[in-house]
Amino acid sequence: MLTDTKARGLADLPPVQSDSLLALIALAAADPREDKIDVGVGVFRDGAGNTPILKVMKEAEQRLLDTQVTKAYLGGAGDKQYAELLRPILLGEHAADKRIAGVQTPGGCGALRLGFQLVAKANPKARVLVGTPTWPNHAPIIDGVGLAIVEYPYYDRSSGAISFAKMIEALEAAAPGDVVLLHGCCHNPTGADLNDEQWGKVTEVVVRRGLLPFVDIAYQGFGRGLDEDARGLRGLLAACDEVIAAHSCDKNFSVYRDRVGSLWLKTSSEEATRTAMAHVLQDAREMWSMPPDHGAAAVHIILEDEALRARWLVELAAMRDRINTVRQRIAAADPRLAYIARQHGMFSLLPLSKEQVLTLRQDHAIYMADSGRFNVVGMADRDIDRFVAAVVEALDS
Ligand code: LMR
Repeated sequence: MLTDTKARGLADLPPVQSDSLLALIALAAADPREDKIDVGVGVFRDGAGNTPILKVMKEAEQRLLDTQVTKAYLGGAGDKQYAELLRPILLGEHAADKRIAGVQTPGGCGALRLGFQLVAKANPKARVLVGTPTWPNHAPIIDGVGLAIVEYPYYDRSSGAISFAKMIEALEAAAPGDVVLLHGCCHNPTGADLNDEQWGKVTEVVVRRGLLPFVDIAYQGFGRGLDEDARGLRGLLAACDEVIAAHSCDKNFSVYRDRVGSLWLKTSSEEATRTAMAHVLQDAREMWSMPPDHGAAAVHIILEDEALRARWLVELAAMRDRINTVRQRIAAADPRLAYIARQHGMFSLLPLSKEQVLTLRQDHAIYMADSGRFNVVGMADRDIDRFVAAVVEALDS
């Protein structure tokens, strides 16, 4: 009998469908048209269309260069003081709760991966409830650790509002131990955030049904303000024994490529949190051993110095103000876009079909995600009118 003895090799791997947002970066970059508008990936741009390094970050980096005397290993948890300095910013009134621990991660994405891996270890049968649409990388991360996903509709495109009744229905139908993935603020891709009353209701159902809330909070300070944007998470911390949160400083410190994140765990006791965190550090050790240092070290310098911290808050407020000003301007242009003023953060969804999105790309060199998600601060001020005119033309077509 003949057997196939040929070993399978790397050449036998199937093709991979590239991540839609990363593919969009490359497409926009390759377009030679000088007047192109890239509202694809989520990177803050100022009125001139640039993503400058924050002035306060430049100063902190200079200080780091001048004073850092070694690059010897810090250990698996990275810079522990960085996480300590973030505690009050993220946790607010819960900062002193010793049942909550945080650890530095490579970006918010690293925190998501570690958090879901921890869930998979603790309860492999847990399902993750994910509202749709969501950030395109959520499902691959959850799939990657072997957890099942249950989708429910989060957002109604026709009304530009959250499908709150359907969300609550899905949460009511979940089994104890299931995980609910929630966007802490600045929902990606819709910009439609839960209001305080809705957070209260979600929290009540989560507690009553014995669900585990997992909050992805990557844009703190880009919505209403640092404290306001963390209110949903803090309400969950007040009510639930167990909470996981993935936090990012990549956006609010404008250090995207430096990958500056953190993972936060709350359990019912200090000891259980210590054990859970030990699992997290073991998993991190297997994947990247230790997080990259530079960005977190610079954030550490800013948060530790009162004057630098105050200047960061001013620069952060300026980014938030631009987001909200551009939102108002687009919303005022056409009644069909009025909902954009009620939403938060860098993203909103335009009521466009994929064909209309592709036409905008072809005819106007406007790059947005196929879903119609656009970055409200992806364009320079000088391009806003042209962008709005092209979108209105597409809506009329
Ligand atoms: C985005 O949604 O555009 C950002 O979070 C960038 C990314 O990694 O996808």
